[in-house]
Amino acid sequence: MPVATHTATIVSRSRGAASAANRPPAISAKPDGIREYFSTDLGTIYHGDSLQVLERHIRPSSVDLIMTSPPFALVRKKKYGNVDSGQYLEWFRPFGQAFRRALKDTGSLVIDIGGAWIPGQPTRSLYHYELLIMLCKEFGLHLAQDFFWWNPSKLPTPAEWVTVRRIRVKDAVNCVWWLSPTPWPKASNRRVLAPYSDAMKGLLKNGYKAKLRPSGHDISGKFAIDNGAAIPPNLIAIPNTESNSYYLRYCAEHGLSPHPARFPAALPEYFIRMLTDPGDLVVDPFGGSCVTGEVAERLRRRWVCSEIVEEYVHAAKGRFPVLHTDQPALFPGSFPEAKGIGASYRISHPAALWNDSEDVSLPDEGGRARISRRAKKE
Ligand SMILES: C[S@@+](CC[C@H](N)C(=O)[O-])C[C@H]1O[C@@H](n2cnc3c(N)ncnc32)[C@H](O)[C@@H]1O
Repeated sequence: MPVATHTATIVSRSRGAASAANRPPAISAKPDGIREYFSTDLGTIYHGDSLQVLERHIRPSSVDLIMTSPPFALVRKKKYGNVDSGQYLEWFRPFGQAFRRALKDTGSLVIDIGGAWIPGQPTRSLYHYELLIMLCKEFGLHLAQDFFWWNPSKLPTPAEWVTVRRIRVKDAVNCVWWLSPTPWPKASNRRVLAPYSDAMKGLLKNGYKAKLRPSGHDISGKFAIDNGAAIPPNLIAIPNTESNSYYLRYCAEHGLSPHPARFPAALPEYFIRMLTDPGDLVVDPFGGSCVTGEVAERLRRRWVCSEIVEEYVHAAKGRFPVLHTDQPALFPGSFPEAKGIGASYRISHPAALWNDSEDVSLPDEGGRARISRRAKKE
């Protein structure tokens, strides 16, 4: 069967669409069950199973970046359904195959994936590590780098282990696996530089004496050269606190439910900037509310999002009318989250506040019994 390029199918149909936004659109499905729901000059949202979208609408070796967040193996399921951790690899395998087929050799696959708890006990599933190993061992992908997205606004869950029995801490980090078909995906950290820390600014101002560090690292005089910005670490701090976006207003105005598990725009923005050039093709097969598509559009990359739940695709259209102006990229030079709250987050040093008394011993039973603190003291 011939495989169409997605660019051949793009038509701009967004203007004037908002007035009918809360009615199901009259777009008929193709015989394969995939509906081209919305298009701009650069991208398309498909409603349908992404396995079929990838097979029928994406050429082999044509994609520069797959930037996505699949359903996680959560114990507490989201409305769109989540696969159990036991079945996760089996469920993901065909996607692994389809992703590998779609990617260019110079391309990248970036997967944002949260961890999960084992139902009924305070231990963690290994499913997201098993996924990583499967993608590398079975599909020949390389782990270019593992990133960790720290969401400082995450709630302390599961409450039973974290706030009731107090035997675990807040799980506030998602793993972000950056994989590539070859060890040499195109990339540049110069696209995602961060401001210097105060310590580094002081060092640049006051000078640095080149020396051998106790760790054995030989720090040369070049360390003190002011390059204007710092190379960021693989810990990305972005609060997921969107509350007043065009998308949310659009949903409210049209009586639509916003997607319940959106990632912040700064996350795809980071990887799109670092791993692609304008005009490259970015795909999000688990598109949800199409954050990836919106960011790609604003950064002038071609894009395809697919989403299986019609309600989400319908609301995702609301991201796009604003784009039909001559405005430049959404976030020229900086992430919106960085504005007004300082450019970096601080995490307390663990020794800053040891605030529990050691008069009360740690529970030998590991928190198995649900005993209140007061009862323990008595
Ligand atoms: C974690 S959400 C992605 C949210 C998205 N990153 C955002 O910010 O809006 C995962 C999405 O994948 C969708 N999904 C699950 N299986 C799918 C499939 N086979 N094809 C297309 N979409 C699928 C779910 O309906 C859900 O909306």
